[in-house]
Amino acid sequence: MLQTGEQLYHALLVELAQANTEQQVYQCKSKFLGRNGSITRLVKQIPTLPLHERAVAGRELNRLKSDAEQAIEKRLRDIIECKKQQQLQQSVVDVTLPGRTPPLGALHPITLTTRNIVSIFAAMGFSVVEGPEIELDFFNFEALNIPKDHPARDMHDTFYIDDEILLRTHTSPVQIRTMQDSKPPLRIICPGKVYRCDSDISHTPMFHQVEGLLVDCSVSLSDLKGVLIQFLHNIFDAHTAVRFRPSFFPFTEPSAEVDIACVMCKGTGCRVCSGTGWLEILGCGMVHPAVFRNVGYDPETVSGFAFGLGVERIAMLLYGINDIRLFFENDIRFLSQFI
Ligand code: DAH
Repeated sequence: MLQTGEQLYHALLVELAQANTEQQVYQCKSKFLGRNGSITRLVKQIPTLPLHERAVAGRELNRLKSDAEQAIEKRLRDIIECKKQQQLQQSVVDVTLPGRTPPLGALHPITLTTRNIVSIFAAMGFSVVEGPEIELDFFNFEALNIPKDHPARDMHDTFYIDDEILLRTHTSPVQIRTMQDSKPPLRIICPGKVYRCDSDISHTPMFHQVEGLLVDCSVSLSDLKGVLIQFLHNIFDAHTAVRFRPSFFPFTEPSAEVDIACVMCKGTGCRVCSGTGWLEILGCGMVHPAVFRNVGYDPETVSGFAFGLGVERIAMLLYGINDIRLFFENDIRFLSQFI
């Protein structure tokens, strides 16, 4: 029996040496070591041997079987390695070539500018609040002291969904929602998208605003001026001239528009500032008593200021962009300049 075992083992080695594919090795394995393989069959015969021969035959045949298994494994490894080497030789890899840089995305200039604006106000203690873009007429107009027949509604070119629902035309409704939900003191900054039915070189139907609101007791116009000048000196040049010009908004009294010295000509007059030397940059004012009453605040005990600014306008001035539509065309040549 042991002799047969040795013979089978050698026969296996011969066949393995001739096997050149993994499949052939597996065929060989099943022929010798499979359930019905010749070596397996021999092992199964051990119990039929006379008792005194069994132990030796068992030990020897098991050794033979494990040698056979190792020989098969080794042949398999050799074939796989050989295949790998062949593949490597066939595919020519030039390891001296420089690596390819994967294209990197970047933040949109409007996102960058919004973050910049928000972080300046955050440093002055303002916290960020957001509101819905689909808004009720009540929050967008009514509560802000702009009743249905008010001429100020004309300026807003509103996208109405129905009589009571619209796309917000400004971020000011977030003021109302926040005051309704919380008690003074308040110091909030509200960035977000707004919508107006308007489109040309300086208007897009969707654009971004940042609204600010501060409510406390004895807030004065000089607080408003201080905060806004600080902001403008931070985002533009620290020496930029700033002026407050009386204006009108239904939700503030008094109201003002704020101009900065033209960033292009520094105030001497150019095309960008239409020769005036000034650029209008934001609207602001002291919160109107009617607005306080609409949210249940007592205008006799609280006071506050609010302001609103357009993010695209600030981004255009900061980056020297002359057409607002560039922000939304998604031209990679434009966008990749803001990395
Ligand atoms: N909501 C105004 C607009 O979109 C901007 C604005 C002006 C907001 C004055 C204010 C403010 O809070 O006090 O044109």
